[in-house]
Amino acid sequence: MIVKEMKRMALCLFLLLFAGSVWSAAKEDRTEQRVDSVLRLMTLSEKIGQMNQVSSKEDPTGQLTECSNEEELIRSGQVGSMLNVVGVERTRHLQEIAVNDTRLHIPLIFALDVVHGYKTISPVPLAESCSWDMDLIEKSARVAAEEATASGIQWTFAPMVDIARDPRWGRVMEGSGEDPYLGSAIAKARVRGFQGTDLSAYNTMAACAKHFVGYGAAEGGRDYNTVDISKQRLRELYLPPFSAAADAGVATFMNSFNEVMGVPATGSTYLVRDILKGEWNFPGVVVSDWGSVAELIPHGVAEDKCDAAQLAVTAGCDMDMEGYCYVSSLEKLVLEGVVSESLIDDAVRRILRLKFDLGLFDDPYRYCDAEREKAEILSAEHRKVVREMACKSIVLLENREGILPLDNRCKNIGIVGPLADNPDDMLGSWCARGDGKDAIGILQGIKQAVGKGVRIRYAKGCEIEGDDRSGFSEAVQVAENSDVVIVCVGENRFMSGEAASRTRLTLPGVQRELLKAIKETGKPIVLLLSNGRPLVLDWEKENIGTIVECWQLGSEAGNAIADVLFGKYNPSGKLTMSFPYNEGQIPVYYNAKSTGRPYVPNVRYVTRYLDCPNVSLYSFGYGLSYTRFEYGELKLDKDTMFPGEKLRIDVSVANVGNYDGEETVQLYIRDVCSKITRPEKELKGFKKVFLKKGERTDISFELSLADLEYVLADGSRESDPGLFEVFVGGNPDDVKKAEFILVQGDK
Ligand code: BGC
Repeated sequence: MIVKEMKRMALCLFLLLFAGSVWSAAKEDRTEQRVDSVLRLMTLSEKIGQMNQVSSKEDPTGQLTECSNEEELIRSGQVGSMLNVVGVERTRHLQEIAVNDTRLHIPLIFALDVVHGYKTISPVPLAESCSWDMDLIEKSARVAAEEATASGIQWTFAPMVDIARDPRWGRVMEGSGEDPYLGSAIAKARVRGFQGTDLSAYNTMAACAKHFVGYGAAEGGRDYNTVDISKQRLRELYLPPFSAAADAGVATFMNSFNEVMGVPATGSTYLVRDILKGEWNFPGVVVSDWGSVAELIPHGVAEDKCDAAQLAVTAGCDMDMEGYCYVSSLEKLVLEGVVSESLIDDAVRRILRLKFDLGLFDDPYRYCDAEREKAEILSAEHRKVVREMACKSIVLLENREGILPLDNRCKNIGIVGPLADNPDDMLGSWCARGDGKDAIGILQGIKQAVGKGVRIRYAKGCEIEGDDRSGFSEAVQVAENSDVVIVCVGENRFMSGEAASRTRLTLPGVQRELLKAIKETGKPIVLLLSNGRPLVLDWEKENIGTIVECWQLGSEAGNAIADVLFGKYNPSGKLTMSFPYNEGQIPVYYNAKSTGRPYVPNVRYVTRYLDCPNVSLYSFGYGLSYTRFEYGELKLDKDTMFPGEKLRIDVSVANVGNYDGEETVQLYIRDVCSKITRPEKELKGFKKVFLKKGERTDISFELSLADLEYVLADGSRESDPGLFEVFVGGNPDDVKKAEFILVQGDK
């Protein structure tokens, strides 16, 4: 009976999936027909107009080069898309011009950098990545999509999936840190969140995997700087999150500003035509970065805009963002026979297809909903999601004295530091239409959380930058009158993000001095850091026993921080980017290779510094909890594995501390001997598990051949038979270890 029922259910499922795939194939065919029917009507100049993206002058996100009248440009059919338009009314007005006043009535696509929220702001992406929580990251992107689409936007320039190992680079705050495996999982989650399952739905938007590719490898961490990476490193480190985004169906890609192997990415046929559109068969739109087509001139590979347009369109860049090279030159290039019209057709087909997929031809105003804008933006439900996201993004770096969570014996709390009463800087860079007025600062969050019997004293102490120490004495006085002092320091929101590279990563200004002054009072200190990149915290680690990395947590920062301080939420975040001892160590990352002379203590001719360890101060994967987790020994279901088999790894994890809590169990491997060198540890899996105090559970992982393979410079994948090590633990430096052999051939 049960078997019969199961068979019936399997048949139903099959029919459902089959019907679904037939339906979606038919939908695709219909879209292709509609695209062709529009394309056939278009003049060459109208086609090229679709390939032009123009920024509104209202709130530009880069240097404007042309002072053209945007309404005139739209009317003359020279705009396919706009970015940075503010609000429903203006968007509707511009859309009306495109739809009513142009010959073919083709709607515009409106784009914006909705990177971590639209109005309700989530933690910066680097912070979110520390949650290792794919469902929540997806939800957070969903909130952003719901708000932005109500406000007229249907295309976000996110997720940024650049792997970054250099914290001097300000844009690390936009990404997911240093690991390609985790970065790939997060890329997928964000694409799912923004795009949902149906791009034409009124509350989903097209995502954009950026910046393709290698932008994170800028020499010296200086933004826009030269990049030199081998094909090998490109394949194994920088490309995986992009191919993951493509696999997840991301609708668009953005070129990067940098060069790769001597060719700027926007003009690189190897990257865009060969890998992205060739090998990966990517069907969507590739948009340049802001002015990056025109930047082929200062890069020194194009003589003028005409040359730049030819290089970029040949390489596969479909849309020119705020560069005006395509509109000024492509028509001439086609008429002279230098550029084939088929290249233009291919680009325009992709752009039209996106407009059809977004439903813009059916209803160009479907994303302009003033009612929805009012009802959904900053809704209680959205705030709840970003508060949870903020709690889970916090990383507890130190709790040596067990000060946290603060208990109700604390009747006098001192709060000092320039980031304490500072909701603006909680938002972080790229905060779209976020407003500090809608954000909860740390002081406010703590005040709201404590009961009546608790006295809060506050003093700013100093600014984030500058050398004014005149506020120190007031801050010291506050400390002296308190049972515990919460010191809130870090970076302002313009110190990270685009064009915000720094060479000194210690706390800016006199903030460390303020901290030293507070320490001299002898009062217990809780150090709260709000920053957009890993900082140099050598002195802090040595001298302050309680350190919480709060990053820039968005609209609900203060509430989330209070949740963690008072134990309503037990912190569970794990770093996704290593913190260096000092700037001279950069780049320092967990998945390093052993070299031919691995480090051995007290040996001279090995890889090492004379004045600093090789490893980071706080590693990728590290983060504490108020409770303690204990791992059992690893159990492998076999000690030799054949290529077609799966290897199962079991481990028991117990919560042996005094609080309920969540642990991120991490799985790493090492290929001990292979044809090309491999990292000493590579992340290959992770699972989050919530355990009540005293509870124990069994976690299992599976490894298949694909997990043991590495990619070669030509994109092919290989694995080597022989010894593998496998490690499981709560961070890569505290793991249980086992071994197995991969054998060649069939069993
Ligand atoms: C940034 C992109 C961004 C674009 C549009 C550029 O300067 O590099 O990440 O999407 O501006 O704002």
